[in-house]
Amino acid sequence: MKKLLLSGFAACLMASAAVPLGDASRGAEIFRGQKCVTCHSIQGEGGKAAPDLGRSVSREYTPALLASLMWNHAPQMWSAMEKAGVATPKLDSQQGADLFAYFFAARFFEQKGDAGRGRKAFVDKGCAQCHNIGSGNAAGGPAVMKWDAVTDPIELARQMWNHSPRMKSTMAAKGVKMPSLTAAEMNDITVYLQNLPGAKNLKPQFSPASAATGAELFQAKGCVSCHKGEKPVGKGGGLRSGAELAAAMWNHPGKVPQRGELRPEEMKRLVGYLWALQFADEGGVAARGAKAFEAKGCAGCHAKGNPPRLAHGETDNSFGMVSVLWTHGPVMQKQMAAKGVQWPRFVNTDMADVLAYLKTVR
Ligand code: HEC
Ligand code: HEC
Ligand code: HEC
Ligand code: HEC
Repeated sequence: MKKLLLSGFAACLMASAAVPLGDASRGAEIFRGQKCVTCHSIQGEGGKAAPDLGRSVSREYTPALLASLMWNHAPQMWSAMEKAGVATPKLDSQQGADLFAYFFAARFFEQKGDAGRGRKAFVDKGCAQCHNIGSGNAAGGPAVMKWDAVTDPIELARQMWNHSPRMKSTMAAKGVKMPSLTAAEMNDITVYLQNLPGAKNLKPQFSPASAATGAELFQAKGCVSCHKGEKPVGKGGGLRSGAELAAAMWNHPGKVPQRGELRPEEMKRLVGYLWALQFADEGGVAARGAKAFEAKGCAGCHAKGNPPRLAHGETDNSFGMVSVLWTHGPVMQKQMAAKGVQWPRFVNTDMADVLAYLKTVR
């Protein structure tokens, strides 16, 4: 159904207003401050007693999945906390969103490509014609070891955006067709470059990616003239890796009259905004949620027709459920144990469905 009265831009703003926009660097502080790091690691750094939260669970890493994972593991986690003498933290929705942004960023930065294939693609796609590896720009473009971007996918995507129109004209002059890159090829090339001897010791860089004012930039830079509607990008499943983003930015020219270059700080705002937007609609189905609410035993304590409101009137979304879990969970768990109710587990779409249901009964 088309929204005729709303411009795409207004629709974006409305969609994003429903969900708190997370900030990855604030999330990193919470992760340390709330002692999650004593048991969990992010990409190998931190405690080893619990799963690494920067490791990929699946491509479909969403706020609802984070809330489900936390919910399912909470009883074991709380007893581990009791044993370790760590107080159970209380999180609000915004902190839930920030933690999600942090974990999402860590997954976004993971290396999963194949360096051998990447080496081949770097040659086959013509990059090697203009970029040599070690030093100098004898080949026409700066050497790879001089790139700022090798270990930072957001910076790489920015470079791809700024660079491709110029490269397109060079190629046109040479009568060569501009190669387009798939996300898989981009991923392989990145891993190849990251594993070159000179780059090996560089740490992956986490860009803060704050969503603030990203919506305005998305308009100012003309993105919105092609990317319209409530889900302006990510229709094919979203931006789940840095390689997808970089390949997409590379593939633009030809289709796009680019309005100026993007600066680093602009790119971070755009990416933070696009990350947050792709999760604005959690896609739950209220009728399925009503059934799950019954089946999981929630209705046994939360009287029918009077189900719980989400945490203190905060927005109804998965971050609200993260907050509810950490704030009310331990009390709920004790009552459940006393009543002989099993701690419910959330699988598949359960979390999004229950949320959709709770929204209808507010
Ligand atoms: C005292 C140790 C400890 C602390 C502190 C801790 N956790 Fe956990 N966490 C665990 C354990 C153990 C598990 C796995 C439980 C299981 O296997 O069921 C877990 C599981 C999880 C999972 C599910 C992981 C997955 O991939 O299945 C998430 C998400 C999580 N914790 C988030 C957090 C966050 C966020 C914090 C800080 C607010 C935190 N944890 C603090 C011990 C801890
Ligand atoms: C026709 C020559 C040519 C080809 C082919 C080429 N580049 Fe470039 N590249 C350049 C030039 C010239 C620059 C520097 C000018 C600029 O900033 O746009 C550059 C800059 C870059 C930068 C920014 C580096 C920095 O300063 O941090 C990146 C990243 C990059 N290229 C990646 C690639 C990739 C990946 C390929 C293959 C898909 C490729 N290039 C193919 C000529 C080329
Ligand atoms: C002239 C039209 C146009 C403009 C302007 C434009 N894009 Fe695109 N964009 C496209 C097209 C076409 C695709 C390719 C869609 C496909 O391949 O399925 C695309 C794909 C993308 C993708 C990846 C595909 C997806 O949906 O996940 C991203 C991310 C993206 N654009 C970001 C931007 C950003 C950021 C700007 C502004 C700086 C911008 N675009 C400006 C036309 C445009
Ligand atoms: C054994 C009884 C019991 C069961 C079963 C139960 N809850 Fe609760 N729930 C409680 C109690 C008690 C509280 C208030 C806890 C507190 O005061 O900290 C609560 C609080 C909540 C809140 C927070 C309300 C607020 O004020 O923010 C939500 C949301 C919630 N529960 C959802 C659920 C869902 C979803 C289920 C099913 C998966 C469920 N509960 C199952 C007892 C239960």
